[in-house]
Amino acid sequence: KHSADDDVLPHATKKTMADHLRKYEALFNLTPQRMRMIVEAFKESLELGLSKHGQIVPMIPTYVFGWPTSQELGNFLAVDLGGTNLRVCLVTLEGKGKFEITQAKYRLSEEQKQDEGQKLFDFCGECLKAFVDANHESGLIPKGSVLPLGFTFSYPCAQDRIDHGVLIRWTKGFGAPNTEGHDVVEMFRNSLSKHQVPAEIVALTCDTTGTLIASHYVNPKTRIACIFGTGCNAAYMEKVQDIPKIANLGIDPEMQMAINCEWGAFDSFEHENLPRTKYDQTIDESSNKPGEQAFEKLISGRYLGEILRLIICELIDEGVLFLGQNTYKIEIAYSLDTAFLSLMESDPTDELLMIIGIFNHFFALETTLAERQFFRALAKLVGRRAARLSACGIAAIVSRMGYLDEGCAVGADGSLYNKYPMFPERIHEGLFDIFGEKGKNVVTYRAEDGSGIGSAIVAAMTKFRKEAQIY
Ligand code: GLC
Repeated sequence: KHSADDDVLPHATKKTMADHLRKYEALFNLTPQRMRMIVEAFKESLELGLSKHGQIVPMIPTYVFGWPTSQELGNFLAVDLGGTNLRVCLVTLEGKGKFEITQAKYRLSEEQKQDEGQKLFDFCGECLKAFVDANHESGLIPKGSVLPLGFTFSYPCAQDRIDHGVLIRWTKGFGAPNTEGHDVVEMFRNSLSKHQVPAEIVALTCDTTGTLIASHYVNPKTRIACIFGTGCNAAYMEKVQDIPKIANLGIDPEMQMAINCEWGAFDSFEHENLPRTKYDQTIDESSNKPGEQAFEKLISGRYLGEILRLIICELIDEGVLFLGQNTYKIEIAYSLDTAFLSLMESDPTDELLMIIGIFNHFFALETTLAERQFFRALAKLVGRRAARLSACGIAAIVSRMGYLDEGCAVGADGSLYNKYPMFPERIHEGLFDIFGEKGKNVVTYRAEDGSGIGSAIVAAMTKFRKEAQIY
C-alpha cells in the first residue's frame, strides 16, 4: 500500500488543508509594494557597503579590473572550493570566447567542513596533485611546467590585492576552525608546497566574480552575475571612483573593478527589512551562525527544504498531519532536501506519484492526495518567495547602476537557478512586479561556468596585468 486511502478519511481533510494553505499563503506572499520597499533598503545597504569597511553587506572590491578582452590565452589550473564539492580543472583558453576544460570533482563531507582549516586546504592540495599527475600521464600537462592557478573560494574574503584574501566569516554551514581571520591563499599555498604541486596561485576569486567574467566573455551584454545554489550572492562592476572605501589607494578612478557583493548578508542582525517567518527564525537560531546571512537563509538551496520541513513538523505537532504514523524520520533537521521541493513542484502526474514516492521511500510516511497537493502548494510558496526576493536583489543593482532603460543581461548559475522548476520565470515575474513593463529589459540567463572558466580568465587577466606592469 503506497497511498493512504482518501475515501476513508473524513471529508474535512481537503478543507482543512485548504484552510492551512491560506494561512501560509499570507505568510509567504510578497506583494509588489513590499518588494519595492525591500529594493530601496537593499540599495541603501549596497551604497553603505561601498562606502565603509565592515558594513552589513560587505561589497568586496575584488581587484579584478574591467572586462575580459577575449584575447586571454593559455593553460590554467582552477580549483573551486564550493559549498558542496571540490572541483579541480585544467582550462585552455583559446581566445575569442573559446576554451577547453578537463575536470575532476570530489564531494566534501560534513566532517571536512568542520575539521581544522589547514586540513581542508591540504585536501584541496592533495586532489590537485592527483589531478596534475593524471594529466602528466595523459600528456595534457607537460612535465616540468608550473601552471598559473585561479583559486575560487566562495566565502567572503577581505582583499587588498588579487592573490590574497582574509576570510571574514564562513557561510553555507562551514565552520572549519583557524580559518576565519586568516589569509586563505597563504593557507592553500602551504598545502601546495606540502604536496609539491607544480602550480602558482595568481588569483583568488569568488564564484560570482568568476561567473561575471566568464559570462561576459561569451555574452558581452552581461553586467551582473548571480549564484543561486547552496548559497546566494551577486557580483557586478563599479567604477573605482564610486567605491569610496578604496578611493585613496591611487588607482585610476575611471577604471572598473568587480564588486563581490556578498549580498547574502543583507538585513543580517537587525532584521528590519525582510519578511521573516517563524520558520526562518528557527533556521537562523539553530544555525552555526545566528543572525548572519539573513537574505541567503530565505533564498538558498541549503535552507529551502528545511523551511518546508519545519512547516510540516508544526502541523504534525498540531495533530493535523500523519496521525498514527511514525514521524521520526521527517523530524530530523535538514532531512528534507531542497531537491525534493524541485521534484514536488515538477511532479506531472494527477495522483502526484513522485510525492508519494518521496514520503514513502525517504520518510516511511503515507500521504493522502489532499496532503500531497498541499505539500506541492507549500513548495511553490517557498520557492516562489525565494525567487521574488532574488529579483529584489537584482533590481537593487540594476536600479543603482541605471541599467533599466538600456537593459542588461544577468548571468546566473547554481542548482536552484538551473534545476528548480520555474525559478528563472519567477525571478522575471518579480522584476516585472518591481519595475513594470521595463522590468522585461532585465533578462537572466544560464551563465558560463564561473569557477572553472571564469577563474582561469581572471588568472589570465591578472598575469597579463603583471607582465605589462599595470597596477
Ligand atoms: C555564500 C558565499 C558567497 C558565495 C555564495 C554562492 O553566500 O558567502 O561567497 O558567492 O554563497 O556560492
